[in-house]
Order: sequence, then C-alpha cells, then structure tokens
Amino acid sequence: MTRVLITGGAGYVGSVSAATFIEAGHEVVVLDDLTTGHRAAVPASATFHQGTYVDGEAVARLLEAERIEAILHCAARSLVGESIREPARYFGQNVAGGVALLDAARAVGVERIVFSSTAAVYGSPEATPIPEEAPLRPINPYGESKRAFEAALAWYGRAYGLHSVSLRYFNVAGATEALGELHEPETHLIPNILRAADGVAEATIFGDDYSTPDGTCIRDYIHVSDLAEAHLLALTATALDDPRTAEPLVCNLGNGGGFSVREVLAAAERATGRAIPYGVGGRRAGDPPVLVAHSRRAAEILGWRPARPSLDDMVRSAWAWRQAHPDGYGD
Ligand code: UFG
Repeated sequence: MTRVLITGGAGYVGSVSAATFIEAGHEVVVLDDLTTGHRAAVPASATFHQGTYVDGEAVARLLEAERIEAILHCAARSLVGESIREPARYFGQNVAGGVALLDAARAVGVERIVFSSTAAVYGSPEATPIPEEAPLRPINPYGESKRAFEAALAWYGRAYGLHSVSLRYFNVAGATEALGELHEPETHLIPNILRAADGVAEATIFGDDYSTPDGTCIRDYIHVSDLAEAHLLALTATALDDPRTAEPLVCNLGNGGGFSVREVLAAAERATGRAIPYGVGGRRAGDPPVLVAHSRRAAEILGWRPARPSLDDMVRSAWAWRQAHPDGYGD
C-alpha cells in the first residue's frame, strides 16, 4: 500500500486512476482546483483537497500532513488550441507550477512521481509508429510545456534522486461505469461525435484532405481504464529500490494501431445504432495527419498489456456512460 497524491484527480484521467489505485489497495489523496474537474468524479474513499499544485508551500504542507509517499501528476492545462493563444498559461502552470510541485516534493522528501505526458511532445513525426527515441519537436506550447517538465524530471532525477515515470499518452477514450469524459468546452473527437448522436449538434470532421487512406487524421486510441492500469504499474516502478527508475523512465501509451476520424464515426454509429449527422470542415491548426505509438517499451519494462484495445469497446463504453449520466456530473 502506498499513499499517493493525485493532482487533477477530479479530471477524466485522474479520477479513473484514483478509482483504480483505490481498487488496488492504495490510499489516495486528490488535489484539484476544480477549474476543469468535477467534485463528483472523485471516488468517495479518496481524501479530497480543493487547491492547486502551483502553490508550492501549500503543497509541501499537504504532502507532510497526508504523509504522501508518491505523486501522480495529472493536473495541467491541456488544450492545444488554447496553448497557442495563451502560452502564458502553459508555461506558467504546466512548467513553472510543475517545478513548484517538484520543489515541494523535494523539500519534504517525496521522491516518487508518475507524470501525465503526451504524444504532443513529438510534434509532426517523421515516421510512425513513433518510438520514444524519436526527436521531440513539439509544434504547440502545450507539447512544449510537457517536454519541459519531462526535462525537469530527468535532471531532478539525476541530481536529487527523484524516481519518475513519464507516460506519453496518445488519444485517451472510453469510460468506466461510473466515470467518463466531460470537458467544457469539449474539443475531443469521441465526445463530440456522441453529442451529435444525441442530436445536440452536428459533428465536424476537421479536414478530409490529409494524405491518409480516407483523407482524415489517424490517431491511436487507448481506453482510459488501460491508461489507469499503466499508472498503477508505473507507480510500482518508482519504488526507490526498483532499478527500472534508477534513470528517469519514459513510455508511450498507445495500442500501436490507428483509426481515422471516419472510422471513429463509423464505430460510433455501430455503438449507438444511430446515423450521426456530420459535416466536413477545414483542417484544425496544429493537427498532425498520423499519430500512432510504438508501445513496446511499456509492455517490456512495465509489463503493460492493454485489456481493452478495441475501438468499438471504447466508443461503446463512452456511449453507455453518456446514456447513464444525462446531466454529466451535475455541476
Ligand atoms: N477531430 C474532428 N472533429 C472534432 C474533434 C476532433 O475531426 O470535433 C479530429 C481532430 O482533428 C484529430 C482527431 O479528431 O484529427 C482527434 O482529435 P482530438 O481533439 O480528440 O485529439 P487530439 O489528437 O487533437 O489530441 C489528443 C489529446 C491532446 C494531445 C494530443 C497528442 O487530447 O491533449 O492527443 O497529440 F496533445
């Protein structure tokens, strides 16, 4: 059993991870300022603190008071488009705030951290699937901010003995029975398609003139429960006597296969049994045509095997959650 602080534990990935950690027997403390998260998404048996990781002194006090042994750092600003318009938020929160969190951890002797990184650190890759060794050339401040924090983790590790795993997520999708994806505004493909299936608004395909078989962008989708399992394995790997994190460890998390926007739309029509109204719009700035992970390292080093790699399964679970929670989290 480990006492874990989950920053952003009221968000989509953080809340599913909190529930998974509790299920596995860990004790979970959630720190979330609720700007994008939902109080009702925090599992009942987690301890909840409303606040921000950016406030280093408050975080140091919290880590001590709660006797935290490891941190899962999920909280961040995470919208590509917003990051281009407002880079200050990304460097201020994801980078400077992240470093404040690391310094707080260092001050009180917390030496284990699992970090939510992103495929956006690669930018537009030269080849796919993308291995972890591929050059990091982010094409937006969001990806740049995550790369910078990964770099801080690596140097802190060498200098101060921090044990870390950075997990570069590809496209997270799906839901558990209790927890699903709900952002305001919603920018992600699957929730937007499911809203269209519900008749809320027509879906838009952002560009069908890419150099892909059907002209739409290809992404590597991964079930949020599989992601949470990877976090659990990564947490174990940060044990101070575990040689896997003697050097900072970085792993892609994807399924190693891609689906086009049109294929996702077709999966959603199967899942919902409805014809989904959509239009084709222009390309969205900053979208690489194909992003698919090489994810052998997570399998080999963490022993991670995605249990729910089927796109249909992911979309079905997201639809089931939406149907069961017509008012979302009620906030
Ligand atoms: N798309 C549409 N219509 C929509 C929404 C998205 O056609 O309404 C397309 C996008 O253009 C893209 C694909 O569907 O080609 C997936 O888009 P998402 O917004 O769902 O996801 P992204 O691939 O843009 O972004 C995800 C994460 C980011 C992360 C990125 C890594 O949400 O945080 O992967 O590249 F940075």
